[in-house]
Amino acid sequence: GLAGVVIAVDGPAAAGKGTLARRLAAELGLPYLDTGLLYRATGRRLLDAGADPRDTLAAEAAARSLSPADLERPDLRGPEADRAASAVAAIPAVRAALLDWQRGFGRTHGAVLDGRDIGTVVFPDAPVKLFVTASDEERARRRWLELRGRGVTAELPAVLADLRARDAQDAGRAVAPLKPAADALLLDTTALDAEAAFRAARALVAERLGL
Ligand code: CDP
Ligand code: CDP
Repeated sequence: GLAGVVIAVDGPAAAGKGTLARRLAAELGLPYLDTGLLYRATGRRLLDAGADPRDTLAAEAAARSLSPADLERPDLRGPEADRAASAVAAIPAVRAALLDWQRGFGRTHGAVLDGRDIGTVVFPDAPVKLFVTASDEERARRRWLELRGRGVTAELPAVLADLRARDAQDAGRAVAPLKPAADALLLDTTALDAEAAFRAARALVAERLGL
């Protein structure tokens, strides 16, 4: 069976990683972890404390003391939380503090994890690695629609600019930069809706695992 299998889902902002990873996990009977929440919750702690999200010591302390309740806060999404997450995610001590916990989550029963460095750093030996992309414009449109659905008014050009700035920061950092693992399967979802993306991913996973 699939027990113990780790599936890594990485890619840039608003590519549909979470939507896809959650569905794959449900389909395959595996636990799911949205690793972006760990960085978002760490960044939110610093914003609350009035600290600079680039403050290395404060950020490491926040990452080390995260509790399950921190991951369920309603204020982890939105432009401010996005920026704070990406800022703390560039700090090596923050990433180190979160690494063992992510590995422990996946190692016990297998899991589907989505993020930026799952296939490159967290689980470099994962048997299945998906790198999910879509054009910048399409990803901005998806994020804009999500914001609108939550009652947040935003201008599409501003959403696009924020997303590009965050991708540049995530891909340009020295530690665990956003990039596909050498053995990742690329899935461009620009022209696919969530259902079609799920079917395409399911076929790739089945092929990789010989199902
Ligand atoms: O949902 P979205 O793609 O917009 O973001 P997310 O996956 O929740 O991640 C928020 C931020 O956390 C990213 O911009 C990265 O800076 C950071 N992150 C990371 O560095 N490594 C991960 N495995 C997951 C997220
Ligand atoms: O996790 P990530 O930030 O990569 O994306 P997400 O939180 O899963 O959000 C993606 C949004 O785009 C959701 O509102 C999906 O319904 C939508 N979408 C998708 O996930 N996949 C597609 N192929 C097309 C749209």
